[in-house]
Amino acid sequence: MKNLIEDIEVLGPAPAEACETVKVIESSSTGKSRKLYIESYGCQMNFSDSEIVASILQKEGFDTTSDLAQADLVFLNTCSIREKAEQTVRNRLQQIQSFKKKKPEMLVGVLGCMAERLKTKLLEEEKIVDLVAGPDAYRDLPKLVALVDEGDKAVNTFLSREETYGDITPVRLGSNGVTAFISIMRGCDNMCSFCVVPYTRGRERSRDPHSVVAEAKDLFSKGYREVTLLGQNVDSYKWSEAENNKARLEKNGSTEIVTFARLLEMVALVNPDLRVRFSTSHPKDITDDVLHVMAKYENICKYIHLPVQSGNTRVLELMNRGYTREWYLEKVNRIREILGPQCAISSDMIAGFCSETEAEHEDTLTLMDAVQYDYAYMFIYSERPGTPAAKKLADDIPNDIKARRLEEIINKQREHSLLRNQQDLGTVQRILIEGNSRRSDAHWQGRTSANRVAVFAKAGNKSKGEYVNVLIEDCTGGTLLGRIVA
Ligand code: SAH
Ligand code: SF4
Ligand code: F3S
Repeated sequence: MKNLIEDIEVLGPAPAEACETVKVIESSSTGKSRKLYIESYGCQMNFSDSEIVASILQKEGFDTTSDLAQADLVFLNTCSIREKAEQTVRNRLQQIQSFKKKKPEMLVGVLGCMAERLKTKLLEEEKIVDLVAGPDAYRDLPKLVALVDEGDKAVNTFLSREETYGDITPVRLGSNGVTAFISIMRGCDNMCSFCVVPYTRGRERSRDPHSVVAEAKDLFSKGYREVTLLGQNVDSYKWSEAENNKARLEKNGSTEIVTFARLLEMVALVNPDLRVRFSTSHPKDITDDVLHVMAKYENICKYIHLPVQSGNTRVLELMNRGYTREWYLEKVNRIREILGPQCAISSDMIAGFCSETEAEHEDTLTLMDAVQYDYAYMFIYSERPGTPAAKKLADDIPNDIKARRLEEIINKQREHSLLRNQQDLGTVQRILIEGNSRRSDAHWQGRTSANRVAVFAKAGNKSKGEYVNVLIEDCTGGTLLGRIVA
């Protein structure tokens, strides 16, 4: 089997969901005494949460470090989406054990989805773990750390119906200073049968739109030029002043319900030079209102991550996705009608879900042909304990068949990614410079509105965080190559 992560990266930039890469938060020094090291796994939500955790602990006298050997406190912010994601964390804990041997006072904590899924079991299974904190328990971290300092083990996996960390300003560590993520909601109420997220992240709740806009304004004033609004299902974002903020309701008298379309508009209005992206959209919930707001504002990027999971209606039903193949294709048509063919669409696909036949797998391939996705994140089905699929359906597709189906999906996506990139050849794209290209300091790297990565030689006196027009002259399946034009 090929290396999936490698394959996934060929096809586009890191998604807001679904990747199993690791991100280490960089060092910050305020001269405080204890050092915190955080490694994040899984989706962008986890990376965002780590910035909240760093913020909470910085107030308690912890600096962050990117050097594990220097750390007094080691946190792994974990993912449970597939078995492999959990195995990666267990392997990492083993490696950390050797650091702890040299430095026995090192405190090891597991945060995030694996903490929530396994709770106290983690302490039994992984002896080096001192602290377990689920995604809604981060405000409690100073107390949990104090408990461990006193010689106890500490666990909080309470899931809240209200917590959004809306009032906490994340510490933007490890950032390029140009693009940032803003969490607009937490949890998920969708219950897709394969998915562990509703169990690890709890009920869906939306964050106060005023705090989202304030965060976007603050980022803009600090030089950031792109924000991505994050949620498992952004289309079900909903906020009502009447339910949530009586004091402000009395002051402003607004009884408006803020939908995702409205929130998107509010953030787009922060500044025309602030690009706005969002992820993830759910095919059953994305509305024409959202598409019209996207069309209205130039600074809302023309890119939608619209995971299909499968191209077959029977499989979609088993997955409890709430739409059919035809409904999905109709949504894609609406997107192209309202936003034009240049609007990029990406997807997630699962190969070898319970009872998927060869013909049903073919339906995924033909759906891909019909849509021609710009990128896709593709996975082998991995049964997760406690999910509806694990309880009711047999994970009956042999591994070699799952792997072969995945490979067919990946190969098809390769063709489409290249094809879609080739459609940009000869066009001039407005690109936000994010920094030096990974390969050369003589080149910039940035993205088009449609989220395609572009690399081009430095010219003029432009710098990171500025927009440039780039003529696209060449491309691979993953990158556009071009030069700055007037
Ligand atoms: N909220 C997003 C995605 C969350 S998880 C959405 O609804 O689309 C990211 C992706 O991981 C999913 O889209 C799905 O393709 C994949 N995934 C989730 N559970 C999985 C499992 N048990 N096995 C394999 N892939 C899975
Ligand atoms: Fe999981 Fe479905 Fe929720 Fe996405 S929408 S997080 S796949 S349950
Ligand atoms: Fe994200 Fe993984 Fe949890 S994808 S929500 S960190 S299970």
